[in-house]
Amino acid sequence: MLTHDKIERNVGLLIVLTILTISVAGLLEIVPLFFQKSTTSPINALIKPYPPLQLSGRDIYIREGCYNCHSQMIRPFRAETERYGHYSVAGEFVYDHPFQWGSKRTGPDLARVGGRYSDVWHRTHLLNPRDVVPESNMPAYSWLDRPLTAGDIKAKMLALRNVGVPYTDSEIAAAPAELQGKSELDALVAYLQGMGTAIKQVR
Ligand code: HEC
Repeated sequence: MLTHDKIERNVGLLIVLTILTISVAGLLEIVPLFFQKSTTSPINALIKPYPPLQLSGRDIYIREGCYNCHSQMIRPFRAETERYGHYSVAGEFVYDHPFQWGSKRTGPDLARVGGRYSDVWHRTHLLNPRDVVPESNMPAYSWLDRPLTAGDIKAKMLALRNVGVPYTDSEIAAAPAELQGKSELDALVAYLQGMGTAIKQVR
């Protein structure tokens, strides 16, 4: 009791001990997640490292700031699963570095947008959203129909391999050829169409 009295009367000590308590408790919650199978291994064999085209599309998604309006994380609530499909699970994102979960939703969540629309729909929508959704306030990305410059694709794949994405040497060697003749639009659409397709939709 006396000790407690001392701590409460000494602001400096109180601050230090509070920080210590929160840090230890936080670490106890967070650290096990780095080692749990459910958070570190893919949920099924459909979760694969992004093929070069999708990987390039993902980088365009990041470059264009799509995450400023779109999340990629369906929460386990009925209102979300009814609208978007199965809630997101950690094992879907093991090859996402960095993941694009986000929380800002000016537009809909995209975690399960793969396969919901045709490629043509996406191309039209990205170049000018109002051509398919008249009331849309999403910006037009009219410049995306230009050649994909991905000279650094091998370096990107090597970097990802360093953080645990299992690209093989032959996949890395073949990557530049796979991007030949593709446009930025092709890459972004490929990325969108692959999104969240490993878990069966609940609807
Ligand atoms: C300023 C906010 C904003 C930005 C930035 C933005 N979007 Fe959107 N997006 C929206 C809104 C609002 C909608 C809903 C209306 C519509 O379908 O156009 C939408 C819809 C979508 C849809 C259809 C989703 C569905 O389930 O119907 C896709 C796909 C999409 N956006 C992809 C993108 C991509 C890719 C980018 C980046 C290149 C992007 N968005 C950037 C606001 C945004």
